[in-house]
Amino acid sequence: MLNIVLFGPPGAGKGTQSEKLIAKYQLIHLSTGDILRGEIAAGTALGLEAKKLMDAGTLVPDGVVIGMINSKLDQNKSSKGFIFDGFPRTAAQARALDKLLADKNTAITLMLALEVDDEELTKRLLLRGKASGRADDQNQDIIRNRIKEYNNKTAPLKNYYTEQAKFQSVQGVGTIDEIFENLCGKINISSNLGSNPSHKVLDN
Ligand code: AP5
Ligand code: MG
Repeated sequence: MLNIVLFGPPGAGKGTQSEKLIAKYQLIHLSTGDILRGEIAAGTALGLEAKKLMDAGTLVPDGVVIGMINSKLDQNKSSKGFIFDGFPRTAAQARALDKLLADKNTAITLMLALEVDDEELTKRLLLRGKASGRADDQNQDIIRNRIKEYNNKTAPLKNYYTEQAKFQSVQGVGTIDEIFENLCGKINISSNLGSNPSHKVLDN
């Protein structure tokens, strides 16, 4: 299987690049942010609880997102692999993900981290906020809190994956296509893929 953690701060382009990567490599896209927004839209109890935290730009509890990922993995047992977007975001989530994948006889292939400076992130999110309706895109204070949560709790995971020799950094500023090409280059090297993924055997 090809299992990729697409990593980066809020607004780095994780969702944008995930869409292109799942089409190219035929992977399942697992975005905990998207799943949580789905719960909010459906008006579930979990969604109601998560909404308060998300609207403030604060992480939701580890147990909630780990449970969501576990059930999505179970629902997609025959997939060629997964893109994890916005997960893991804490050390506890990273350890839990390794365990869930090991139980399914697979593992993370690599972590790709999109690097974008805070000024560009804020600009992108405020711009999207005009049209997205996402409460957490609406003002600079909430965006600042999202970036703070990322720096405090999530950015340290770069070390976690570096220790496993799985960390790769990618410039996240530029055109969407340029960034995509760079991501594909790293994936192809890490997974021994040529230009046509369907003709090669994936590791793991
Ligand atoms: P989540 O939904 O994951 O949001 P996020 O990480 O804050 O990031 P975004 O989705 O806003 O950005 P992105 O990196 O996907 O960028 P995008 O492609 O959209 O999480 C939301 C909340 O849910 C969290 O705050 C937390 O409360 C909760 N949550 C989620 N997962 C959790 C977890 N695991 N644990 C605990 N809590 C969790 O791009 C952004 C914008 O930039 C778009 O408008 C796009 O068009 C534009 N753009 C993209 N690429 C480029 C480019 N190259 N140049 C210019 N603009 C670009
Ligand atoms: Mg996203």
